[in-house]
Amino acid sequence: VYKNFYSVELPTPPTKTPKTKYVNQTTGAVIDYYEVEVKSFEQEVYPGLKKAKLVGYDGISPGPTFRMERGREAVVRFINHGDKNISVHLHGSYSRAPFDGWAEDTTGVGQYKDYYYPNKQSARTLWYHDHAVHHTAENAYFGQAGFYILHDATEDALNLPAGSYDVPLALAAKQYNEDGTLFSPESETESLYGDVIHVNGQPWPYFKVEPRKYRLRFLDTSISRAFKLYFEADGAPGKRIPFHLIASDAGLMTKPVQSDNLEISMAERWEMVIDFSSYKGKNITLRNNRDVQADKDYNSTDKVMRFVVGTTVSSQQGNGNLPSTLRSVPFPPAKSGIDRKFKFEKTGGQWMINGVTFSDVNNRILAKPPRGAVEIWELENGGGGWSHPVHIHLVDFQIISRKGKRPVLNYEKEALKDVVLLGTSETVQVIARYAPWDGVYMFHCHNLIHEDHDMMAAFNTTSLTN
Ligand code: C2O
Ligand code: CU
Repeated sequence: VYKNFYSVELPTPPTKTPKTKYVNQTTGAVIDYYEVEVKSFEQEVYPGLKKAKLVGYDGISPGPTFRMERGREAVVRFINHGDKNISVHLHGSYSRAPFDGWAEDTTGVGQYKDYYYPNKQSARTLWYHDHAVHHTAENAYFGQAGFYILHDATEDALNLPAGSYDVPLALAAKQYNEDGTLFSPESETESLYGDVIHVNGQPWPYFKVEPRKYRLRFLDTSISRAFKLYFEADGAPGKRIPFHLIASDAGLMTKPVQSDNLEISMAERWEMVIDFSSYKGKNITLRNNRDVQADKDYNSTDKVMRFVVGTTVSSQQGNGNLPSTLRSVPFPPAKSGIDRKFKFEKTGGQWMINGVTFSDVNNRILAKPPRGAVEIWELENGGGGWSHPVHIHLVDFQIISRKGKRPVLNYEKEALKDVVLLGTSETVQVIARYAPWDGVYMFHCHNLIHEDHDMMAAFNTTSLTN
């Protein structure tokens, strides 16, 4: 049992720097070139017990953080010195299909693959993680996940908290064996909720902050756990500290939306600005609600991390009032009707989408939206007591309706997304423009055990008829 809550400092992954750059002699365009080595490392989580054996990008987890500027292209070579096949997906990027981490496009041990990333989308928090067919859960959970942050001038001009006041926080729930090693999800067939909550790879860390505003970029890298987060000051249990949500999967929202709790499911990103200025010298604990969706709770899954608020502020950068509007979000034009329906359900012991599994290679392309088409997809949770966070590659979508338990959440209304949680018995409609590229792309449940057990299909935006 883990005893030392909030005793180890929050790790901050290093920023990745390019190895070299290439200049296109004709256009003058610069492409940054990076190299990442997938390799094993050890982490001591329980002092005195065995170390956990992990495999991560550059031998750390989360991997190094990429901080990219919009308009500057990149090539990243991923060299596999791990122990399994890998495929790398940059989640949130409209990468061309050959660089999107197609599950079967695996790189064997000892091999490498160069991935081209356009970095042409608006500022957003992306993440890169493994996507190897039938091994995504193990690979991502044993370490292959990291932040990839795209900046742009429009966002910079808003003067939001930046530099050390802009903090990426990767959540993960895991489970350990008695001897201190990490329990493997390999033989799981339903879910691995995990009883140990990690932030940036460290169970229940603390983080020293100044009494001022911070931008926190939350990402849930868990295999199966969704969170409902809230902040509580020591000595004031039950009193939730408000914050403003400002961005999600596809970047800035239309405007800041105040809330005192945040639902975040697997692969989602939600960013907030929170003000610690009235908590000088106090501790603030980030907590997780019990009874989130179908998740299984354990003794300490209601705790996440602690913010230790200092007494002095060293810079006023980004510490002013939040702008009342953030950007005009490019929502797809409204339309009516439902173009396609997909049911996510377990049938005959198999995780399926419309009765098809990813292994069913002749039938797994479930949609052919012509490139550029705006379509409404209805995503239905077929029941059984599980929730399914659905991720559609290539596109950013708007959540236009939820049927079942709850309406579209206030902050969801102001954001473009690439993952949406289908809670138990929920049906959700999303609208997106299927662009900008031709290609075959995946869509799937981001509960990585469901994904690995084939709750994944594809769509093809290549219109052969015109
Ligand atoms: Cu984050 Cu297809 O994955
Ligand atoms: Cu699922």
